[in-house]
Amino acid sequence: MTDDCLVICYKQFADGLLVFYLQTIKGGRMYSMSKRKSTVVIAALLGGLLWYSGSVGVIAQAGEGNGGSKTVEYTPEGKMKRLSPAAYRKWVYVGTPVTPNDMNDGKANFPEFHNVYMDPESFAYLEKTGKYRDGTVLVKELVSVGQKEASSGAGYFQGEFIGLEVSVLDTKRFSKDPGHWGYFSFGHSYPLKDVSLPNKVDECNRCHEANATDFVFSKHYPVIRAAIAAAGK
Ligand code: HEC
Repeated sequence: MTDDCLVICYKQFADGLLVFYLQTIKGGRMYSMSKRKSTVVIAALLGGLLWYSGSVGVIAQAGEGNGGSKTVEYTPEGKMKRLSPAAYRKWVYVGTPVTPNDMNDGKANFPEFHNVYMDPESFAYLEKTGKYRDGTVLVKELVSVGQKEASSGAGYFQGEFIGLEVSVLDTKRFSKDPGHWGYFSFGHSYPLKDVSLPNKVDECNRCHEANATDFVFSKHYPVIRAAIAAAGK
């Protein structure tokens, strides 16, 4: 007759990582159980373990407290690397404001059309919670006004790609900026810059803080408004 035991242990590290392992204890104190009862106890232990690791997984997936985004990359000096159009043009397209030069004394601040995209994981989170998660990335691709006549009538029709701007919510990288949003510009004419330093708070962030809802101009993006309205329903 042996009195060695097999127990389930776990270690929690500072970054939240949980590691489970089995350990044998020699000469542990012995509780005698009927075969049936011990099966129930082991099943309950395993069930609890699965439930716990499952809920930890769900929280990590939702991006809570992840700090930062895997969607964008930075140089060691903190410059954002220009995102690939092949990637962001497949994101969730949320709307197109247009501020044409000919309605802005010939010189709009952000010329022409602004096609705005949101990274899909953050959009899914927004749909679920109505909130922008840590790591949200919004891309604003500037497009010139091309033709002003089409068979459908007179209007503004998209011409060529002319610029790229990005905003990102990152509680770690922009811990000191209002709302923790950082703003980047890769230029308003091609060729675009390959990397961009974050713009100064007064150049971009302040206007978003003062005039938008939670720093995002959702009032101009019907897709975001619908997602927020649907959240939690
Ligand atoms: C004077 C106010 C103002 C300033 C300054 C400003 N923006 Fe914006 N921004 C807007 C408005 C209004 C919109 C939405 C309508 C539009 O695009 O015309 C917008 C939209 C955006 C979007 C799309 C996502 C969103 O938050 O709605 C990005 C990205 C963006 N701006 C980046 C920048 C960057 C980068 C700078 C600084 C170089 C900047 N903005 C400066 C007013 C401003």
